[in-house]
Amino acid sequence: MSEIILRNVCKQFDKEHYAVKDFNLDIQDREFIIFVGPSGCGKSTTLRMIAGLEDISDGELWIDGELCNYYEPKDRGLSMVFQNYALYPNMTVYGNLAYALKIRKVPKKEIDERVHKVAKTLEIEHLLDRKPAALSGGQKQRVAIGSAIIRKPKAFLMDEPLSNLDAKLRAQMRVELAKLHKDLATTIIYVTHDQTEAMTLGTRIVVMKDGVVQQVEAPIQLYDNPANLFVAGFIGSPSMNFFDAYVEEEKGKTVLYLGDQSGSRKVYLKGEKAEIARARELHKKVILGIRPEDIYEQKDAEERGILEDTVGVEETITAREMLGAEVILYFDKKGKSHAVKLSPENQTQTGEKIRFYFDPSRIHIFDQGTEENIFYREEIR
Ligand SMILES: Nc1ncnc2c1ncn2[C@@H]1O[C@H](COP(=O)(O)OP(=O)(O)OP(=O)(O)O)[C@@H](O)[C@H]1O
Ligand SMILES: [Mg+2]
Repeated sequence: MSEIILRNVCKQFDKEHYAVKDFNLDIQDREFIIFVGPSGCGKSTTLRMIAGLEDISDGELWIDGELCNYYEPKDRGLSMVFQNYALYPNMTVYGNLAYALKIRKVPKKEIDERVHKVAKTLEIEHLLDRKPAALSGGQKQRVAIGSAIIRKPKAFLMDEPLSNLDAKLRAQMRVELAKLHKDLATTIIYVTHDQTEAMTLGTRIVVMKDGVVQQVEAPIQLYDNPANLFVAGFIGSPSMNFFDAYVEEEKGKTVLYLGDQSGSRKVYLKGEKAEIARARELHKKVILGIRPEDIYEQKDAEERGILEDTVGVEETITAREMLGAEVILYFDKKGKSHAVKLSPENQTQTGEKIRFYFDPSRIHIFDQGTEENIFYREEIR
């Protein structure tokens, strides 16, 4: 069992600034919680406050029903894995794994059993006699994770544990971490910069900006239902495209004029989206958001039956990325780069023109002032 609750947790390194402000989160037993956000937004600081490596300036930290603000790190029952493995260079892999148990005076026989069990789980049994210097990055990472799990902690705290690995190893370790989470059936709190790690590992993702939590949601809900402009732009790669637009009315229909109010390029909204947009933003300038995979070329737009709802926008392609399973075309508008994900058969080359069609049902609208997503609904969970 491990339930971790943060109540209005704050961190101030100096009087004026908050590194973390009013952090609230109820972490259930066995959750895989991900902290994401730009560099300096307070991810590591929050994790370190939970671990006890950093004092909590204000607020409360509860672990399994106990107020833990003033508990020593070792008394919190948590295990932390850092980005730079933190192995003892003079000890063998066996020694590294056994160390935490040795200082806790666990009997030798039990240590031996537990070391072998963990080594088997992580497939490092054949490395037990080696010193860290003779290990690859991925192997070191496994040993670091091994020495964290061998203590059977209530929860794991991991700060970008895979960021030193190359792309292939990362992908491999990611799958293994997911398996490990299932096998160990414990809570994990995990800091990452990596979109794929966040989306695939997390039961819930916490998006932070400037020390403040922006949104906490399961990955797919976060992706489909971002609360504001920041979250919408941060989650997803390539990121969501944003355009200036105006909400107008034409013969009873709600329509978005792209770029200016001339109506030469427009998208008709339907159903609830049309109603909300009209009620909240009629005749106002807004920010239209649409993901690269929700924009289509003419043939696909026709097949999806969205052709009559949008007037295509013709753009000149500035870059083309062929990724095998898909092709990404880029175009610029007002100095901002935009991306469109199409099937790899599309042959449009850099410098050529192509007409794009937006799927109106996948459009997000952000208020110009508050930057809130006007379609965001808290009850979608
Ligand atoms: N010991 C410290 N003294 C003063 N300021 C600090 C200290 N540690 C962190 N900060 C500041 O607190 C803020 C949050 O830092 P933190 O390390 O939590 O960011 P992060 O989200 O983990 O960033 P990154 O993705 O770069 O690791 C930053 O502005 C940072 O400069
Ligand atoms: Mg950090």
